Amino acid sequence: MKITPVSEHVGAEVSEIDIRRLTDGDTATLLQAWGQHGVLFFRDQELTPDDHITFAERFAPIDVNKFFQPVETHPQIAQVLKEPDQLGNIGGGWHTDHSYDQIPAKGSILLAREVPPEGGDTRFLSVAAAYDALSDGLKATLETLSAHHTNVHIFGAGSKHMDKADNRLQNPENVGSAIHPVVIKHPTTGQKLLYVNLAFTTRLISADGHEWTEEESRPLIDYLLGHTAEGGFDYQFSWDEGSLAMWDNRSTWHWALNDYQGHRRLMHRITIAGEALSAAAS
Ligand code: SIN
Repeated sequence: MKITPVSEHVGAEVSEIDIRRLTDGDTATLLQAWGQHGVLFFRDQELTPDDHITFAERFAPIDVNKFFQPVETHPQIAQVLKEPDQLGNIGGGWHTDHSYDQIPAKGSILLAREVPPEGGDTRFLSVAAAYDALSDGLKATLETLSAHHTNVHIFGAGSKHMDKADNRLQNPENVGSAIHPVVIKHPTTGQKLLYVNLAFTTRLISADGHEWTEEESRPLIDYLLGHTAEGGFDYQFSWDEGSLAMWDNRSTWHWALNDYQGHRRLMHRITIAGEALSAAAS
């Protein structure tokens, strides 16, 4: 197996490997590389849905997403589908999966089944690099704060996002919210990570538990989002059929580009369970 970093801050391509035939030693090597690079990319993998599940379960139990259409034969696998006549796509803005859960998912493992002739790339970035690039003064302040994460405005009843991305599963009873530290410690690498995102982070909370209003929170959250998105901490991955990406939801953000109107794109996604998040300052 060969592991080649693809950019300064995020991602590595793993080659000379058939992920249907991993030894425990290979799995340990991948785990170490995953922690170091945040996203691992594989190409030319010929996986059945069962192979995809077996690969995912090497890293953690599956955490089934409540808002994706499942693959009919394999409910553990979510379909990320955009049809030629559909305008919206799933994941079309910077985000990290499941930050609205009390215990957010460790990562997601996305396999390309059908790709458009051009476009449909996914961008990834490192929130470890984004944190590191902040001033010591702002880092110290952020380490005292927590934030609300919610999906009510996206997956709740009447949300305009549900009309736009119409291949989602309508499941408004299962919307949820959680509070997480703004700066978390990666559970295995110990890296400090900026844990806010555009899709789900709505409001800040002070160290003493006092709430900020949304209006007060917005400027600081927006500053952090802009700093993270525009800071050059990213890498754009182009898919072929059989490409697979596994990303860490704590240390990275991702964004599925919606630039292939008139073509079909079908991906299979498995999300795997994480562990409770702890504050970097703890
Ligand atoms: C997602 O946000 O999980 C979708 C990513 C993609 O389709 O590239």
